[in-house]
Amino acid sequence: MQLKLIQLQKHGDERGSLVALEEEKNIPFPIKRVYYLFGTKEGVRRGYHAHKKLKQVAIVMIGSCRFHLDDGKEKIELILDNPAQGLIIDPMIWHEMYDFSEDCVLMVLADDYYDESDYIRSHEEFINKNESNK
Ligand code: TYD
Repeated sequence: MQLKLIQLQKHGDERGSLVALEEEKNIPFPIKRVYYLFGTKEGVRRGYHAHKKLKQVAIVMIGSCRFHLDDGKEKIELILDNPAQGLIIDPMIWHEMYDFSEDCVLMVLADDYYDESDYIRSHEEFINKNESNK
């Protein structure tokens, strides 16, 4: 599986840093929704789903967390701890997030509105769908 990380340009000077996110420029899709996770309790693991069509980019604004990504063939674990780095989560990538630092703010940009029917929340169903798409 190809890990898709976006290095976001950081405009830094003596005052600090600034990152701009622009749809269809450094974010490779139209941004229809932004959501963020914060105050995640210790030991919590969340996600546990894949999307049928949704494209997303995850950016840890503050703190750190780990991602588990699974395309049905390979699995990747990675840490996100840089607000100038975006992780692309394509459709049909099973993902879980864990080891959130207490201060972690994880922001996600998505190319569509929230739609429960786009979720695959069973890993078995995810694997079966992958098999049938081959
Ligand atoms: P959930 O899917 O359980 O989050 P995760 O996959 O990270 O474990 O979402 C938590 C709740 O928030 C659930 O009731 C659905 C709701 N929700 C929205 O209303 N809009 C959104 O954009 C998202 C991502 C979730």
